Amino acid sequence: MSNPETRFSIERANAEIRACAAAVRRTPYALRYHIAPPCGWMNDPNGLCRSGGRYHVFYQHYPYAPQWGPMHWGHASSADLAHWRHEPVALAPDQPYEAGCFSGSGADDSGVLTLVYTAHDDARAIKETQCVARSFDGGRTFVKSANNPVIPAPPEGCETDFRDPKIWREGDRWLLVVGTARGGRGCAALYESADIEHWQFKGILCESDGGLGSMWECPSFCRVDGQDLLLISPIGMEGHKNIALFGAFDPETGRMAVDHWQEIDLGGDFYAAQVLDDGGRTLMFGWMDMWNREHPTEADGWAGALTIPRELSVREGRLLQNPPRELEALRGETLADSADSAALRDVQSDGYELRVELDAPEGALVFSDARGELLRVELRDGEAAFAMPGRPAVCAPLALPFDGAEIRAFIDRCSIECFVNGGEACYTCRVYPQDHIVACAASGPVRRVRAWALGDAFEEAPC
Ligand code: FRU
Repeated sequence: MSNPETRFSIERANAEIRACAAAVRRTPYALRYHIAPPCGWMNDPNGLCRSGGRYHVFYQHYPYAPQWGPMHWGHASSADLAHWRHEPVALAPDQPYEAGCFSGSGADDSGVLTLVYTAHDDARAIKETQCVARSFDGGRTFVKSANNPVIPAPPEGCETDFRDPKIWREGDRWLLVVGTARGGRGCAALYESADIEHWQFKGILCESDGGLGSMWECPSFCRVDGQDLLLISPIGMEGHKNIALFGAFDPETGRMAVDHWQEIDLGGDFYAAQVLDDGGRTLMFGWMDMWNREHPTEADGWAGALTIPRELSVREGRLLQNPPRELEALRGETLADSADSAALRDVQSDGYELRVELDAPEGALVFSDARGELLRVELRDGEAAFAMPGRPAVCAPLALPFDGAEIRAFIDRCSIECFVNGGEACYTCRVYPQDHIVACAASGPVRRVRAWALGDAFEEAPC
């Protein structure tokens, strides 16, 4: 069914959140410093940008239940990347051409916070088109363009899976990359515009060689340390779900030749990563969850979260991800600072950052709860190996020079994010501990163990 009777509206969505958010916030797994929905469901990060002196993070949202439903866009903003506030819902599927507002991107267009998203409607022959919405009040409310859909159909020869537009500025024009498929192979289509309103198809930016999946979701282009990268979430790529393609983008031809690729995060709960152009640096958020997972927090009225922001760099053809400096502003009490790994016993907190430095890349760090082991990180034979009960063990090479080794981890009430050796290997997982506290033990040539409590990142009242 298309949506002519506007069952959904921004007002209704905000009222639902006002009614439910306080109770959700008091539940035991409510995350302390990650972006999560005030109530209901969240998936992909959307619309990441800086505008009006603030960082804006939008996300796929269904406020009425902790399960995926007709998609809205939730919104949070921050002045410093560490402390956040919930903003009113940005988009609801309230137009005749959409039954859901699917993923997309955002940009500051001469002071106007502008969103480009996919209008999705299964009942239509062309089920996915690209649309625009603008805010003239700094992101409080959005007006959908009268020209929607601004891209009314996929390019000839491409399938009707045609979604998740990401825009960026290239010289004096806007470019847009959108995920689709051609002949059963995932690909990314490229468009160009002077005003984000009128788009011209430029060609296929990049395409699977047959081994990179049958459809590409959430393509995100960036240039990091002189390296062109296209992040994609391929469907049907055996064993891989969110990868970075390394290549060379030619703005003249609109093509990107791929050289090699890397899995962005080895954990099972990481998907749909999107980049944020922050002037001199590139930040990235991912959905800290995955399709077809169980969500114990459903019982508490919410599901889904985003990762902490990560700053990207490239060294010797490897993608590195690190928490930005700004997150130090969340640090409270120092829970450990010792050369003795026994100091980890004192780290009893439901939100903390941990840094374990080793003299050599040979050792292990174990996270557990009252019932037993949750995650084991092992460094050996030039690799970082990650093992969780019930999930396949995975490993990544540690190829870059590093003085000894370091495992850095961000623990929240139901999540662990690990960064090994300056972000060369990353692993993100959701865990639901029995006692709300994730304890840990380290072995190997430990040089120094440090931990800090991390405080709440959100202002109290939503919207
Ligand atoms: C990725 C995705 C996108 C789509 C959105 C719908 O997780 O499937 O391709 O736009 O989620 O919520």
